[in-house]
Amino acid sequence: MQTYADISALREQIQQYKRDGRKVAFVPTMGNLHEGHLTLVRKARELADVVIVSIFVNPMQFERADDLNSYPRTLEEDYNKLTSENVEIVFTPTPEIMYPYGLDKQTSVEVPGLSTMLEGASRPGHFRGVATVVTKLFNIVKPDVACFGEKDFQQLAVIRQMVADLCMDIEIVGVPTVREMDGLAMSSRNNLLSLNERQRAPVLARTMHWISSALRGGRRDYDSIVVDAQDQLRAAGLEPDQIFIRDSRTLLPVSEETKQVVILMSAFLGKVRLIDNKVVDFVSEQQS
Ligand code: PAF
Repeated sequence: MQTYADISALREQIQQYKRDGRKVAFVPTMGNLHEGHLTLVRKARELADVVIVSIFVNPMQFERADDLNSYPRTLEEDYNKLTSENVEIVFTPTPEIMYPYGLDKQTSVEVPGLSTMLEGASRPGHFRGVATVVTKLFNIVKPDVACFGEKDFQQLAVIRQMVADLCMDIEIVGVPTVREMDGLAMSSRNNLLSLNERQRAPVLARTMHWISSALRGGRRDYDSIVVDAQDQLRAAGLEPDQIFIRDSRTLLPVSEETKQVVILMSAFLGKVRLIDNKVVDFVSEQQS
């Protein structure tokens, strides 16, 4: 496995792969790798000849300095895991390499609508940061295909929209969420939970499944479902942040045309914000 922090040396190596006719798959990450990331890497391996992973905690997508500073960084362990997966290249740039003139003077990429709704409304600038860094990484790596987790449902929608709008010739592949045995969606932020918080964390997924069953059972009183779900979270000691039941294609409120909804949830356990989502198929559930 080769590691690069430098953009031009990385580009030279990738050009060589391309000259040899090898297909390149890319998995952008912020490190602190867990089974969810490794599932993305394995999917990338299925789809291409060469797998490139980036590890970069992107300051542009954090609104709070304390959140950025406390983001877990475990580079040595990450390298070991990626070596075991036979990844060809790891790209680990510094903020100075990615943003040589600082964040304020950086051209940014804004995906209108999708970036400012839902999670984007409570985290202003977050999706601009994601879209900007992913664009830069895509321009550096020039992958044929890139894999992203479905756990970050809105992020995946933003990236798909950006790739379509900016005519980027890259196939975007969404990979299903990987869960712990107790249902908690895997996330680097889970490492920040205390033992006691970790024990309560699966309530987020359980509440989401309760919403899903309510919808499959025919309930369409979305506002009261959300209130009931918030009560369930509070009863378990979680502080509900956002719960949305939306059209999974547009992320807009459910309408007559909606065939599938997505339940998007976030809640705080102490300082840690956990997110999860689940798609519920109205049509097939009604037929079954
Ligand atoms: O999902 C993540 O880890 C990050 O948002 C990403 C896509 C690597 C961009 O920094």
